[in-house]
Amino acid sequence: MSEIIAIDGPAGSGKSTVARAVAAALGWSFLDTGAMYRALTAEVLRRGIDPHDDEAVAAIAADATISTVPRVVINGVDVDETIRSEPVNVAVSAVAANPAARRAMVTRQRAWAAAQPVGTVVEGRDIATVVFPDARLKVYLTASLDERARRRGDEGAHSVARRDSADRDRVASPLRQASDAVVVDTTDLSIDQVVEEIVRWLKTPN
Ligand code: DC
Repeated sequence: MSEIIAIDGPAGSGKSTVARAVAAALGWSFLDTGAMYRALTAEVLRRGIDPHDDEAVAAIAADATISTVPRVVINGVDVDETIRSEPVNVAVSAVAANPAARRAMVTRQRAWAAAQPVGTVVEGRDIATVVFPDARLKVYLTASLDERARRRGDEGAHSVARRDSADRDRVASPLRQASDAVVVDTTDLSIDQVVEEIVRWLKTPN
């Protein structure tokens, strides 16, 4: 099993940008698990399925072929742009609350990371708590709601706040800070500063 840095946090806390930059700095791979839940949601909507129909969504999750690099593709359809659309923003929390769909995604996430040559920086909501509880380093990123909404641009503070509560309040693998995670508030930090802090933590003996 290759090494893992797990990065969790709410929407707009900087996870994707920071995780990608940390991976580049270390020469490791990078996995955006939110893109997987978004791709699944795009496929559910494309097929005209109700995102709350747990059985139908779970069936799609079990059979789907998903890749996130270099572009996000599900079952051969490029959804790299669609996954950031308003319909996906609205429906993704329901899909991500589906326990069977989550199990199918977690299996893929673990298999993907195990196949990477050196290490993987994985970002999401349940990475340190559920997917990789033995990660070498666990990071929980936060930022003020104002700043997170600003970063999410068109999505708006209301939608970001709604998605955060849905992710925190769901029964299946809710967004939680792992007890052994280092917390980094990114509100007033540059990307470089956050990356430096994470790399410093990685090198700190525990
Ligand atoms: O990070 P993001 O905004 O692209 O994630 C999209 C949604 O997917 C988010 O509302 C919560 C869900 N998600 C999840 O439940 N578990 C993960 N590991 C990653 C994302």
